[in-house]
Amino acid sequence: MDEPTLKITDTRTSKDYAVPIKNATVRAMDFRQVREDPEEFGMMTYDPGYTNTASCSSRITYIDGDKGILRYRGYPIEQLAERCTYTEVAYLLLHDELPTASELREWNEEINHHTMVHENIKNFVDGFLYDAHPMGMLVSSVAALSTYYPDAKNIGSPSNRRLQQLRLIGKMPTLAAYAYRHSLGLPYAYPDNDLSYTENFMNMLWKRTELKYKSSPVLAKALDVLFILHADHEQNCSTSTMRMVGSANSDPYVSTAAAAGALYGPLHGGANEAVLQMLDEIGSTKNIPDFINRVKAGEVRLMGFGHRVYKNYDPRAKIIKKISDEVFEVTGRSAKIDLAMALEKIALEDDYFVKRKLYPNVDFYSGIIYEAMGFQPEMFTVLFAIPRTSGWLAHWEELMTDPERRIARPRQVYLGPEERDLVPIDERLGQARKAHT
Ligand code: CMC
Repeated sequence: MDEPTLKITDTRTSKDYAVPIKNATVRAMDFRQVREDPEEFGMMTYDPGYTNTASCSSRITYIDGDKGILRYRGYPIEQLAERCTYTEVAYLLLHDELPTASELREWNEEINHHTMVHENIKNFVDGFLYDAHPMGMLVSSVAALSTYYPDAKNIGSPSNRRLQQLRLIGKMPTLAAYAYRHSLGLPYAYPDNDLSYTENFMNMLWKRTELKYKSSPVLAKALDVLFILHADHEQNCSTSTMRMVGSANSDPYVSTAAAAGALYGPLHGGANEAVLQMLDEIGSTKNIPDFINRVKAGEVRLMGFGHRVYKNYDPRAKIIKKISDEVFEVTGRSAKIDLAMALEKIALEDDYFVKRKLYPNVDFYSGIIYEAMGFQPEMFTVLFAIPRTSGWLAHWEELMTDPERRIARPRQVYLGPEERDLVPIDERLGQARKAHT
């Protein structure tokens, strides 16, 4: 069969073009040949926010946003959340396959070997104000790791890349816990490598004077499931940032810091913090109708609702809603969950949300669970960044081995002035200032 093509007619020139179609996609570069004048640059595609542009091919995560499907390396998120640990899933993301029991043991030992950070990092974190946002501290301290591991610049070596990946996965919880304890004025707690990844994180957060920290198995399991759900989500804003910065051959620490910076934004990973602020502002179920009216009037957004890809219930939100009951059995039921469920019910029946296919996303319920576990809202995005690190690194590794890798460098449609001559300063009429007032 002939290769399928997309036929285009340029009505400016009446010329016909045939553009090859592969994987239901056409290559933007194939449009460059479309020109009105041979001297012209050629046609580009315009896509602000990359709503319909594939920036890479990937074998890591599959999402069907209309059906609410999420799979890592082909495995449904529901099965991974029920039957795996977070480190097992991190292995899957980075190695293409799930580990055997001995591979997992070795992987966990390797990660444990890298949980400590240089003692100087403590001084570095101490330099932040007592009320510094933990995400700001995390972004800065991950970037600082680049100065501790100059060998990370050797991105061409697969074994060197693996070492940096282990360091990053191992050290992210330690840096996150340091940021947390700094904001509370508590001494930093060292990692305890007898514990699982999640239990060790809880140990570094909450250990006081006891010799050995013991976590609640229910809360440790819930946190581990939350880590699995947040581990990857294909080409979202932070992962695309990781790939973009990585495409300049920057080392993985500064690339991860850049990705974490993107995650910090309230439209991305910062939404879980914003959901809690929103629930506090609504206060009680009787205020929901007023709040919904403000959303519909475009005054505020219903945080934790809507998604660029999911036009159906986010499968991660479903799993989180399910585990919330187990968490509340240990922590006591949060009044916020009832408020959130009432808000969800009203929104899902409202034409505004139905028409726009706006459903709860992963952030709608996660913050409520985190708060019940004892985290301040400022920590929520940090709890997203720790597991997402394995996803960022899986994409970075995929990029490093991609034969089509080039530095990311989008084009623009220039709409500014044509060439003009500079006017001496005392002859300028101040149009620019006038134009902006
Ligand atoms: N509340 C009210 N209206 C909304 C919302 C919302 N949360 N989300 C989208 N809309 C409306 C929007 O106003 C627009 O309406 P209209 O067509 O009348 O102009 C329409 O729905 C399409 O919205 P959009 O902004 O074009 O959609 P997008 O794909 O660019 O944005 C989003 C996706 C997630 C940024 C957006 O839905 C949003 O701001 N949600 C709230 C923040 C949030 O919960 N973010 C977490 C995302 S999940 C975690 C992650 O992956 O980071």
